Amino acid sequence: KLPPPFNEQNLHYAKSSPERQKLESALKELRSQVPVSVPTLRNGQSIASESSQSQLSQIMPAEHASVLAKYTPATKEDVSAAIEAALKAKQEWVDMPFFDRAAIFLRAAELVSSKYRFELMAATMLGQGKNAWQAEIDAAAETADFYRFNVAGAQEIYEKQPTINAPGHAGRIDWRPLEGFVYAVSPFNFTAIGANLVSGPALLGNVVVWKPAPSAMYASHLIYKILLEAGLPPNVIQMVNGDAQMITDTVFDHPEFSGFNFTGSSDVFRSLWFKAAEGVQSKKYRDFPRMVAETSGKNFHVVHSSADISNAVKHTMRASFEYSGQKCSACSRIYLPKSRASEFLDELKQHLKETKMGDPEDFANFLGPVINKPAFDRITSVIKKAKEDSRLELIAGGSFDDSKGYYVEPAVYVTNTLDHDLFDKELFGPVLVAYVYDDAEYESVLTQLDKQGGGFALTGAVFANEPAAIRKAEDKLRYAAGNFYTNCKTTGAVIGQQTFGGGRGSGTNDKAGSSDSLKRWTSPRTLKEEF
Ligand code: SER
Repeated sequence: KLPPPFNEQNLHYAKSSPERQKLESALKELRSQVPVSVPTLRNGQSIASESSQSQLSQIMPAEHASVLAKYTPATKEDVSAAIEAALKAKQEWVDMPFFDRAAIFLRAAELVSSKYRFELMAATMLGQGKNAWQAEIDAAAETADFYRFNVAGAQEIYEKQPTINAPGHAGRIDWRPLEGFVYAVSPFNFTAIGANLVSGPALLGNVVVWKPAPSAMYASHLIYKILLEAGLPPNVIQMVNGDAQMITDTVFDHPEFSGFNFTGSSDVFRSLWFKAAEGVQSKKYRDFPRMVAETSGKNFHVVHSSADISNAVKHTMRASFEYSGQKCSACSRIYLPKSRASEFLDELKQHLKETKMGDPEDFANFLGPVINKPAFDRITSVIKKAKEDSRLELIAGGSFDDSKGYYVEPAVYVTNTLDHDLFDKELFGPVLVAYVYDDAEYESVLTQLDKQGGGFALTGAVFANEPAAIRKAEDKLRYAAGNFYTNCKTTGAVIGQQTFGGGRGSGTNDKAGSSDSLKRWTSPRTLKEEF
C-alpha cells in the first residue's frame, strides 16, 4: 500500500519569515542567471544546436524588456524523433511495477515541496507574473498535490477488479495504458497544470509528448528536470518546444497518436477535435484517440438579496481579479439584486482602491501584470471600446500601462442590459460586468444567466443565506457549471477536495484531480479464465 495522499501545507511568507527569505534568495539567484537557457532534452541529454539566432525568448511580463529564458524551437524532425523515442521507451515503462512508477512521482512531490520549492516559485513569479502567494498555491502546493493525488487515483484504478468470480472462473481487469502515445498541451497560467497533464497518463503506463505554453517555458522545464531527478526514465516524457502548429500537426499525423490531454482555449480544442476526427475518418490512427480537455469559461457569481454582501465582495475580488483574471475559473460576470447592488458595488470599489497593483515580487502587491502583449492588446481593446458604449457604466478601473510591464487595472462595468458581449466572450483578463436585477426576478435571472456565458459551463457560484434561494440556484443551474460553489468564489479548487472541470463549451468535464480523469488514459482488457 502506498501512503494516503495529503495536501501540501501552504507557507505564508510573513515578513522576515524563513520562507520569505528563501524565496527572496531564489528570486535573486534566478535574476543573476537570466536569461537562462532551456535545452531540448532527448534521453536526458541536450540535443539542440543552440545558435542564438534561432532562439526564442520567454520574457518577464512585469518588465517586458527582460528575458527570463531562451530556448531553441524544435524542428519537425526533432518532434518526430521525440515521438519515436517515447514509443521506444514504452515497453520498459509499462513493465515497471506500478509502485515503482508511483514512487517516482511521490519523490517528485517531495522535491517540489522541499528542494525546489522556491526555485520553481521564482520561475513562476518572474516568468508568469504571479506574486508569492499565487506561486505558492500553484507551483509548490498544487504541483505536489497533483502528483500525490494522481498516484492515489491510479492506485484506485488498478485495485478495481470484478466483484464476483463464479466458481470455476477467474476474472480480472488488465488496466492497460493506451496503445500508442499521449500528447499533452499545457497553458501558461498554472505551472501545476503541466505537471498534472503529464503525470496522469504517465502513471497509468503511457508515454507522453508534452508541449508547454511558451510563456511558462522555464517553470515547465524545471518541472521536467525535477521529474528526471526523481527517477523518471528520460524518454517517457518528451518535452517539445516551439511552433505550436507544426508540433501539433506532426503529432496528429502520427498513426500511434492515441490521446490528447489539453488545457487551453475552447477554439483550439474544437479545431484539434476536428483534426483528430479527420484522422479517424481516414483510418490514420489505430485507435479512436481519447480527447480530454479543460478549456474556456465565462464564469459567474449570482448574488441573492439574502447574501452576506461583505463575503460576496471579498470572494468576487479574488475570483475576478486575482492573477488579473487569468484563471479559466475566474469570475467575469455577476448578477446583483437591486436592493443590495449599491452596497456591493461601493464595497467592491473600496477594496479595489485599497488594493495595490505592481511588481509581483513586491509583497505589498495583490495585482500583477497580464501575461504578454497579445493579452494586453486583447483586454485593453475591449476597455477602449467600452468607453464609447453607452450601455456600460464604468465604476472602477479602466486604465492600463505597458511602458514597463503589461499592467491592466481591474475594470468593473454595470449595465442594465443582458444583451452584451461582455456576458459571453471570454476575455481572460481583469474585467467584470455586473447586471442589476429586480429582487423579485431572482428565478428568471437564473434562467437568463444559464443561457448566457457564451456556451461555456466551467465554474459558477451563488451567494445567499436563504436555503430556498441556494436550492433554486442549484436546481436551475444544473448544467451551467461543472464546479458550482455556494457562498464562495469560483476559483481555487483544491486537489483532492474539489475535482475540477466543466461541460458544454468548457471541456470534456473529466475532472482533474480524480481517478475518473485518469481512467481515460487506460484501455482496460477484461480477462476471464475457466478452470
Ligand atoms: N483549478 C483552478 C481553480 O479552481 C483553475 O485551473 O481556480
